[in-house]
Amino acid sequence: MEWAKLRSTARYNLATSGMVALPLTELGVEIGQLEINGPSGYGYEALLRKIVDRYSVPQESIVSTIGTSMGNYLALAATTEPGDEILVERPNYEPLLSTARYLGLTIENFQRRNNFAIDLADLERQITPRTRVIVITNLHNPSGAFCSDSTLREVAALARKGGAYVLVDEVYREMLFESRPQSAFHIDPERFLITNSLTKAYGLSGLRCGWVLAPPDVARRMWRINDLHGATFVHPGELLSVIAFEQLGQISARMKALLDTNRKLLREFLTARDDLDCYWPEYGTIVFPRLRRGSAEQFCELLRMRFETSVVPGRFFDCPDRFRIGVGAPTETIRESLHQLGKGLDAFADVTMASSSRRSS
Ligand SMILES: Cc1ncc(COP(=O)(O)O)c(C=O)c1O
Repeated sequence: MEWAKLRSTARYNLATSGMVALPLTELGVEIGQLEINGPSGYGYEALLRKIVDRYSVPQESIVSTIGTSMGNYLALAATTEPGDEILVERPNYEPLLSTARYLGLTIENFQRRNNFAIDLADLERQITPRTRVIVITNLHNPSGAFCSDSTLREVAALARKGGAYVLVDEVYREMLFESRPQSAFHIDPERFLITNSLTKAYGLSGLRCGWVLAPPDVARRMWRINDLHGATFVHPGELLSVIAFEQLGQISARMKALLDTNRKLLREFLTARDDLDCYWPEYGTIVFPRLRRGSAEQFCELLRMRFETSVVPGRFFDCPDRFRIGVGAPTETIRESLHQLGKGLDAFADVTMASSSRRSS
C-alpha cells in the first residue's frame, strides 16, 4: 500500500486498478443536499437501504465501512482470534495478508491455477480444523479472473465441513456493471463474508463508501469493533454516497463504455506481443502477464526509469515473475501508456539479449 501511495505514480500510469475518478460536478450535487452532522447510530439508514435494495440482503446483515479495506479488516477481526489460521489464495492482494498479520493470524495459502481459477483440490488439501476463514478476491486481484458461483458453492461446501467462513472481496466484481449485482453472499448467507465499496468500478474512491455483508451475529460484532476505530462516519460522505447510489445506472454505463474501449486496446496490445504470456480475463481493468524472458522486477524498474511508466511488480502479489497492468484511465492516457509499455518491453528485450550473449561469449 505504501508503494501504491508513494511510488506508483508516473507520467504514464498503468498501475492503478480502479476506473477514472468521477468529479463531484458530475453528481450534480447542490449544497442544500449536504449537511455536516447526521443521526448517530449503527449506519446511516438511507445508505443502508440503498445497499439492501441493490443487493437484496436483510439490513441486519450489512455493516457500513470506510472502504473495502476497513471491511476486510472488520470481517477478519470479527471472526478470528490471534493465533487462528486463515487460508488465502495465491497470488494474493497483499493488504489482506498484512491485515491478517496485524491480527496475529497464521496465514496458509492455496493456489490459483495457471488460468487463475481456484484450485479446489489444493484448497481441500490445505484446509485444516484450525482454518477459520478462506480468503478470495472476485474478480481476482491481480489477474482479473472471475470466479463462478458454481466454484464458490464448492468452496462453501469445503468451508462448511470445517466450520470456516469464506471472505470474498467483491470490489472488482462491480466491474460486471450489472444493474442487480449478484453476490456470493446469496450462496450461503451463514458462511460468506462479502466486502465491497464504490471505490473501483465507479471512480468514487474518495467517498470511502464500503460495506460488508455477513451473518447478523458477525455483523453486530463488526459494528462493535468499528466503534473502536471510527465510531461514526463522515456524514457528508454518507449523503454523497446515497446520491451516488441513485446515479449508479448512469455512472455504470459511462464507466463500462470507457472500459470496453480500453480493454480492446489492451487486448490488441497483448495479442501483438510474443514476450508476454497473459491470461485474458472476461471482465475488469487488470491483467497479470508473465514476462517470458528476464526478470519482471528489473523490467518494472527499467520501465519506470526510462519510460516514465508504472505497472505493479508481481512481488506485491506473491508472484515475482509477473506484473499487473490496469486500464481504467481515460482512453488517450491508456493508448499512450501502452505505447510506452511496448517501447519498454522492446528495450528490455535488447538488454536481456545483450546480457545473455555476454554470458555465452
Ligand atoms: C482486492 C482489493 N480490495 C480492496 C481494495 C481497496 O478498496 P477500498 O479503496 O474500497 O478500501 C483494493 C485496492 O486496490 C483491492 O485491490
